[in-house]
Amino acid sequence: MVYATTSPVSGLPASTRCDRTAAWAALAGHFEAHGRDFDLREAFARDPRRFDTMSFDAPELFADLSKNLVDAATLRFLADLARECSVEAQRDAMLAGAAINTTERRAVLHTALRAPRGSAPFSADVHAVLDAMLAFAESVRVRADGTAPARLRHVVNIGIGGSDLGPQMAVRALAEVAHPGLTFHFVANVDGADLASVLARVVPAETLFVVASKTFTTQETMTNAETARAWFVAQGGTRIEEHFVAATSNVEAAARFGITRTFGFWDWVGGRYSLWSAIGLPIAIAVGAERFRELLAGARAMDEHFAQAPVERNLPMLLGLVDVWYRNFHRFTSRCIAPYAQALQRLPAYLQQLEMESNGKRVDRSGAPLPYATSPVVWGEPGTNAQHAYFQMLHQGSDVVPVEFILLRQASAVAGAIPAEASARQHRMLLANGLAQSQALMQGRAGANEPHRDFPGNRPSTTLLLERLTPRSLGALLALYEHRVFTSGAVWGIDSFDQWGVELGKTLGSALLGKFERGRDADAGAGLDGSTAGLLQRLLR
Ligand code: F6P
Repeated sequence: MVYATTSPVSGLPASTRCDRTAAWAALAGHFEAHGRDFDLREAFARDPRRFDTMSFDAPELFADLSKNLVDAATLRFLADLARECSVEAQRDAMLAGAAINTTERRAVLHTALRAPRGSAPFSADVHAVLDAMLAFAESVRVRADGTAPARLRHVVNIGIGGSDLGPQMAVRALAEVAHPGLTFHFVANVDGADLASVLARVVPAETLFVVASKTFTTQETMTNAETARAWFVAQGGTRIEEHFVAATSNVEAAARFGITRTFGFWDWVGGRYSLWSAIGLPIAIAVGAERFRELLAGARAMDEHFAQAPVERNLPMLLGLVDVWYRNFHRFTSRCIAPYAQALQRLPAYLQQLEMESNGKRVDRSGAPLPYATSPVVWGEPGTNAQHAYFQMLHQGSDVVPVEFILLRQASAVAGAIPAEASARQHRMLLANGLAQSQALMQGRAGANEPHRDFPGNRPSTTLLLERLTPRSLGALLALYEHRVFTSGAVWGIDSFDQWGVELGKTLGSALLGKFERGRDADAGAGLDGSTAGLLQRLLR
């Protein structure tokens, strides 16, 4: 098969708007008859096999969906919904490189980044960059071992959004296998305090800056990169070409910035789907070429599951469909992510961008307004910390929030820095807490005439179990989330791969920056609404 090197503009399979399908009507009826008053405790009492029939094996992980407000009929109607909305055909179109990002007329091919050589679109380009990037990552690791005159000790990633959250989350998640001689820093915020706090801890000769930006135009990243370069020179740094590299699809702009070593990627890699591309360079430096390939292989295994498993056993599809059930029928407005693993501390932030930037849309692909809700708010923190902050609201608050527990059967070896028995004991506590929370949410407890002690229970959760956190299992977990977001977006008929909603704030921000730069001026507020003008005048005082 010959693939074009630019995104082909081609249509998606025709599909009926989700709320006009027979399955949607069936789900609406089912919700009235059995969904609104569905009781998890009764469901388990009725069906002793509920756990077996509602838990699923997928590559690298096991998912228990049995504590969700669904029964066999719900899952059957949801699978019908997926078929009526052409979710499988939309998936196939994405995997084949069709321009399913219709508003930007781009293909969506992050899956091609983890496909073996020759097995997906753009393979030659993808593997050429991957090989070059991994060779470079290995050379940095060698320098960190002290084999070069000036040893490298710090890697500073300058990027924001998808050019920050993915690498930052993954480098922390894989700390167990990261190079011990290197410290990784992530600078994103245009607030100079972010960059300053990193620069205070590094010296030019020991530091590699990775300027990560798909567009190489993002204000925050360009500003931080310019400030870092000026600091580097002012601190007596030499050989900028050795200490600044770029990951971008805008190679010319990186060259204009003065960066000669650039790892490229393509318009068909969305920012929030880009950690598998050159944007993953800090991950590759941290864990090395072989483990980075394992990360890709884990994602690839999930891609194959997503591509091949029937809807009824396709875990990303099932999760995405249950999300639709909760959002559009139960009308739950948010979902909480609770990784019981300190290593996954940045996963909720990463998933916020993945899901809310992808599916936070209110018109369909043709621009027609949608009468139903789309992306929920996604939020969370690692357990057990979260238990001592907002789990009160999850157990007794007025809203039902489905919770997603992520448990690792084995502790990470990083915990080996404390005595083995303490590490094992603390891991047992971690698991017991995670399991207890989903149990408590479901079971509830009567308060013996003390309403404030009453737990209503029947609160849904999903539990994902990983054997342990490895590059491979992390890759599979992240691909699971990507395809789940794809599934709900495909049902809703939205373009999950654009992000026009960030544009207006950027435009207004530029105009206001001009006013800030002109300084105190009686006319500063001209043309602005009363509130913005008033605040501006106060800030300029
Ligand atoms: O403004 C939103 C956004 O475009 C995200 O989608 C993206 O991940 C982020 O900004 C950073 O963009 P870039 O990698 O082009 O600097």
